[in-house]
Amino acid sequence: MAQARTAGTAAGPAGHGSAGKGFRSARLGWPELHRIPHPPRRVPVLGDVLGASVRSPVQDSMRVGRQLGPVFRRKAFNKEIVFVWGADLAAELADESRFAKHVGLGVANLRPLAGDGLFTAYNHEPNWQLAHDILAPGFSRAAMEGYHPLMLDVARQLTAFWDERSHAGEAVDVPGDMTKLTLETIARTGFGHDFGSFERSRPHPFVTAMVGALSYAQRRNTAPPLLGPLMQRGAAKRDKADRAYLDSTVDQVVEARRGSDGTGARGDLLDRMLETAHPDTGERLSPRNIRRQVVTFLVAGHETTSGALSFALHYLSRNPAVLRRAQAEVEQVWGGTEEPAYEQVARLRYVRRVLDESLRLWPTAPAFSREALRATTLGGLHPMHKGAWALVLIMLLHRDPAAWGEDAETFDPDRFEPKAVRARPPHVFKPFGTGARACIGRQFALHEATLVLGLLLRRYDFRADPDYRLEVSERLTLMPRGLRLHLTRRTHSPQARTPAAARG
Ligand code: HEM
Repeated sequence: MAQARTAGTAAGPAGHGSAGKGFRSARLGWPELHRIPHPPRRVPVLGDVLGASVRSPVQDSMRVGRQLGPVFRRKAFNKEIVFVWGADLAAELADESRFAKHVGLGVANLRPLAGDGLFTAYNHEPNWQLAHDILAPGFSRAAMEGYHPLMLDVARQLTAFWDERSHAGEAVDVPGDMTKLTLETIARTGFGHDFGSFERSRPHPFVTAMVGALSYAQRRNTAPPLLGPLMQRGAAKRDKADRAYLDSTVDQVVEARRGSDGTGARGDLLDRMLETAHPDTGERLSPRNIRRQVVTFLVAGHETTSGALSFALHYLSRNPAVLRRAQAEVEQVWGGTEEPAYEQVARLRYVRRVLDESLRLWPTAPAFSREALRATTLGGLHPMHKGAWALVLIMLLHRDPAAWGEDAETFDPDRFEPKAVRARPPHVFKPFGTGARACIGRQFALHEATLVLGLLLRRYDFRADPDYRLEVSERLTLMPRGLRLHLTRRTHSPQARTPAAARG
């Protein structure tokens, strides 16, 4: 707890930073903006939107960034943004004495849904520190150990589901099923709620509403300022309906817990939100803020992990040598253990490297923003006023040849061998963000994903459709589009069981 408070105050969230709401264009914050390159065919009023892809803004910015270099700018109508991806510059932006999280773009667009919940809170909002201090122990080692059996339960549901598919000779819908898995996992471990995802043939309406809300938040970044509201009236209406659905789901989850007689108290995230007072001040989260936190954790707690697992499975299916090595590790480390114990998961070092390498190439939360705590100069060349901000393009940072070598585009889990990691500069691998506002659920995600990959590797061989070409869809987060895999049960595996036995 003390550690969490120190992190907060040292880095600024409690005291400094993003005071302003609304979009702050680069022109206001960067007095020497002309030094930063922009795409060559910029036109008045529109800016750089000609030829830009509205549906995949991150991959589009990647393309532009490769042409323009480690810091560049793009303008859509009246909104101009500075992008940074060079390893040196990104390391500067990670310096918490000079920069803090900036709540802008897609994150700011999620405020109508998530308000001052942990992810979308402005640094100065008191509820950030309060919620951080109350919820951080929910991610301690002891808490994680408590979630482990529930994670196994959900993974068992997935394997039962996949056993049936493989038995029927049908391919599995990887992103769809990983979303079922991760939504059930966060819902059950954090909130004692069962969405029944595996009993449904279609995605749960919570997922449909969430994807709608995320996509809408992304589209608002590039909407024309005057025409936008008119053109998007229908979309805005749908967004309102999506948010209303998400809120009502959250209210049901909270009411169910409030209505329970308190026996069977679980000490999960929801209990912490409802019952725990701040250890120093005695303050509690308000009912309104709890609603924001529940929706934040239900969304942030599954969407990105689902993508991470999906990309990892894609790469495993495409790299037979990696697949065999990962399977051999699971067999060696877990042996004949029917179900791995908590501490056996982190021992899957190679599987974890596969995950890290997948998150390197496709960090499923592909960008974060940083703002100057006071006037400063980036890279010795670009003065920034206090409050000026830049978007860190994680995907390009993770592919910067200066940090990762000339083969940075190649999938190679050995990049995460301890020796190789030590040889790289710090701050070049940032899939979970940086500083005091970095991901609170990092350990949760890594434990869940490593456990599930281990179980799947032990049970199946994966076969990709040879015609499949990786396409990545964007809805603030990244997800492989249309990824299907054929599975074969590994009959020689000590864990091969019948679907019925697996369910039991
Ligand atoms: C592979 C999975 C995940 C990835 C790649 C990821 C990525 C990130 C990133 C990049 C940030 C910082 C965003 C920013 O600076 O604006 C963040 C913050 C956050 N994440 Fe995650 N995340 C993952 C899983 C999770 C899980 C499982 C949970 C909850 C159980 C979670 C909850 C949060 C919350 C609440 C924040 C806001 C923290 C704060 O500002 O205090 N995330 N995540």
